[in-house]
Amino acid sequence: MRYYFFSLIFFLAACGNSVTMPQASIPIAVEAVPTISPDNSQLAAAQRNYNTLCAHCHGYGGDGQPLETAERTETLGYHTVPLHNSAGHTWQHPDQLLFETIKYGVESPINLYTMTPFGDLLSDDEIFAIIDYLRLWWTDDQQTWQEQLTTQFAENNPYWSESPVDEE
Ligand code: HEC
Repeated sequence: MRYYFFSLIFFLAACGNSVTMPQASIPIAVEAVPTISPDNSQLAAAQRNYNTLCAHCHGYGGDGQPLETAERTETLGYHTVPLHNSAGHTWQHPDQLLFETIKYGVESPINLYTMTPFGDLLSDDEIFAIIDYLRLWWTDDQQTWQEQLTTQFAENNPYWSESPVDEE
């Protein structure tokens, strides 16, 4: 019920604005778990992988670390786990950098919960499928913007490879 309420607000907000640039902070329904058709086997597998390997940190609706623990994490002086939905900034990175983050992880002393590498658990295709799953949380404008970033990154980095380490 609450989900429909939020959807209605989105709809009304969308009618009132002619948005040309992506919006960074848009209210999100916490229950925003996308419904995937089982026929779309790649995306359905991506949802299963996301829910099994990622959601306990990034949220089942891509809404990041739960508020209660986030406050404690911040009190301890650490960074919280980022959101993937339209209120976060995942959409501000090109696919290639999202891919590298997921495959190779991020080592950082300022994170209380570590973004570990998933390259041993997920194939490159499975990682790209998860990125497609994350896209479902972005607005159309954010998707267009991020697609342009991805194209630009490819143009500026013609030698970027999905497996730079393996090719040595
Ligand atoms: C133990 C908690 C944890 C798990 C599990 C986890 N992550 Fe992360 N993730 C993090 C943290 C913390 C960061 C922030 C890293 C940084 O930039 O310092 C992060 C960053 C990211 C980013 C970059 C986001 C951005 O907006 O900059 C992506 C994409 C990502 N994770 C995807 C995933 C995926 C996909 C999975 C599952 C396969 C996953 N994560 C599992 C904690 C986690």
